[in-house]
Amino acid sequence: MSETRILGIVGSLRKGSYNRMALNTARESMPEGATLHLFELHDIPIFNQDDELRPPASVLELKRWIRTADAILFCTPEYNYSVPGVLKNAIDWASRPFGDSAWLGKPAAIMGASIGNFGTARAQYHLRQILVGHDMPVVSQPEVMIANAAQRFDATGRLTDEFTREQIRKLLDALLRLIRISRTGSDQAGGASTDPSSRGGA
Ligand code: FNR
Repeated sequence: MSETRILGIVGSLRKGSYNRMALNTARESMPEGATLHLFELHDIPIFNQDDELRPPASVLELKRWIRTADAILFCTPEYNYSVPGVLKNAIDWASRPFGDSAWLGKPAAIMGASIGNFGTARAQYHLRQILVGHDMPVVSQPEVMIANAAQRFDATGRLTDEFTREQIRKLLDALLRLIRISRTGSDQAGGASTDPSSRGGA
C-alpha cells in the first residue's frame, strides 16, 4: 500500500514556537507507513480578495501540499482566545476562489500548545468551527491541549512530558483511522460498510 501523507501546519511563525516543537514530536511519532511534512506559513501574504484569482506562488504551493496530502494535522497556538491570524489567513487563501477550496472534505486533526493553563482549548474549538465550513472530518478524541508548554519542552525543543507524547501518538492513530474511514467507509482495511458517496467531502 502507498505511504500515507500527513501535512502538518503550524500556526506560529515564532522561531522558538512550542507548536512547531509539538509538530516535530508528532513527526518523530508517526505510525509505520505514514510521514508528516511540516508546512511553514512564513511566505503566505495577507489575504486580499482582489488577488484570489491570481494567488502568489506560496499559496499555490500550499494548495498543492493540501491536495496531495491524505490529511492535515493542525498545531495551533491560541491568540486572544482564538486561532492566530496567520493560520486563519492561510485557511482563507487555500479556500479561495469560490469552488476551488483545497480543504474540502480533507480529514484533519487538531492539537495545540500554549504557555497558559487552557492549552489552546478555546482556539481549537474555533478551528473546529472553521473546518465545518469545508466539510472536513476532524478527529474528536483525544484532544491534545498542551498547557504550560514552557514546562513541557526542554532547551533543545524536545517534549519531556511522556503523557503528552502518548496523547500525540493516540491522536495520530485516530487520524489514520479517520483517513481509512474516509476512503472506504469502514475502519477495516478494504471493507466498505457504507456507501462513501453518500457522505459529503472529496
Ligand atoms: C498569546 N498567548 C495566549 N495564550 C493563551 O493560552 N491564550 C490566549 O488567549 C493567548 N493570547 C495571546 C495573544 C497573543 C497576541 C500572543 C502573542 C500570545 C500566549 C501564547 O500561548 C504563547 O505566546 C505561545 O508560546 C504561542 O505559541 P508558540 O509561538 O510558542 O507556538
